Amino acid sequence: MTDYYRLPLEYVDDPHALHDVLRAEGPVKELRLVHGLKVWLVSRYEEARTALSDPRISKDISKGGWLFEHHADSNSGKRMFDDVLNSHMLNADQPDHTRLRKLVNKAFTSRRVEMLRPRVEEITKELLDDMEGTVDLLDAFAFPLPITVICELFDIPTKDRDSFREWTTTLLTYNTQEAVAAAGAAMSQYLLGMVEEKRKAPGDDFFSALVHAEDEGSRLSEMELVSMAFLLLVAGHETTVNLIGNAVFALLRHPAQLALLKEKPELIAGSTEEFLRYEGPVNLATFRYTTEPVELGGVTIPKDELVLVSLLAANRDSARFAAPDELDVTRQAAGHVAFGHGIHYCLGAPLARLEFEIALRGLLSRFPDIELAGSPQELGWRDSTLIRGLITLPVRLGP
Ligand code: HEM
Repeated sequence: MTDYYRLPLEYVDDPHALHDVLRAEGPVKELRLVHGLKVWLVSRYEEARTALSDPRISKDISKGGWLFEHHADSNSGKRMFDDVLNSHMLNADQPDHTRLRKLVNKAFTSRRVEMLRPRVEEITKELLDDMEGTVDLLDAFAFPLPITVICELFDIPTKDRDSFREWTTTLLTYNTQEAVAAAGAAMSQYLLGMVEEKRKAPGDDFFSALVHAEDEGSRLSEMELVSMAFLLLVAGHETTVNLIGNAVFALLRHPAQLALLKEKPELIAGSTEEFLRYEGPVNLATFRYTTEPVELGGVTIPKDELVLVSLLAANRDSARFAAPDELDVTRQAAGHVAFGHGIHYCLGAPLARLEFEIALRGLLSRFPDIELAGSPQELGWRDSTLIRGLITLPVRLGP
């Protein structure tokens, strides 16, 4: 068996150092992930955008699922996908993807997102009111804000929200197959119950709109609804949380940038793009595979190979962004790929931006003296190559 380069365990702690090496070597490298799966990792900006929008690089897990076992060097590829939860649009190609996305667009309109603004402001205020002294900013603020918003959007009762957080965490970090299967089964069972409820007694909530969304006579099936809800809930749980955490962590290590935002809060909205670029919450975009040989930046990836695009690496490519390792809240960072690119570009981007902006503005105006409680080196990163996020973020809020 060929001895491929394997990502070291420290990769989750410091992916940027390795990305610098990978980008310098070439746009795409064949390697094994920490847990043994062989993939082609795309690290340069231009090739990342090309790969994310090339229809020959598929996202259809129903056809390509076997590749995970095929390319595994141990049992790493056996972490198989739950059919019900995974038949969503992020795992579909055109034309299926188009049909699913059009239907969800009918329910997830920009009007509905904008209508959430006062509620996001209210939740932010309540959370800030409850904070004092030294807190874990993730637990006290960054987690509850987007989770409350997405759960309210889906009309999920408060008493069930902790279960959701447990299930999604299990599904997105390295876990045993049994744990993943159990969390998947529990979540799909729960969501199926919700779909049935919304069919019988629709409200004016987003989930009811999704259940009843119709486009040219087409509707989402039971399984598609469960899967779509799963996708949105997971995305809504695990991303904005870490954008807030990563951004605040970055600011606390860059006092001049922090001072600038406090002095000119009107810069906060524009700075969102720079925080997404500098340390976005998604490192590797979800798995793709080649349906035929594909040439990317002079490298030919054969057919039936798994492809991973590093959004973090692409966003720090000096060929696209000058001085990419510097945080500059005044930078024109639009064009970053933190929300992906192509047909799977993040559906929740407007909501994520809205939440982030309100959260950061609220936090800095209420606690202008916020500082790290402890040294940055003591903080650990989550054991995931998908999610880029801290395990905890202890801060002193000030007098
Ligand atoms: C897709 C990032 C928040 C819903 C994606 C993708 C990325 C991403 C990179 C594409 C993945 C790929 O192509 O492999 C982010 C980031 C967020 C965020 C950085 C926050 C800062 C959200 C929220 C929601 C959401 C709050 C839901 C309300 C989705 C959905 C897709 C998606 C449904 C799949 C779109 C499709 O397949 O057409 N997101 N996301 N995201 N995101 Fe987000």
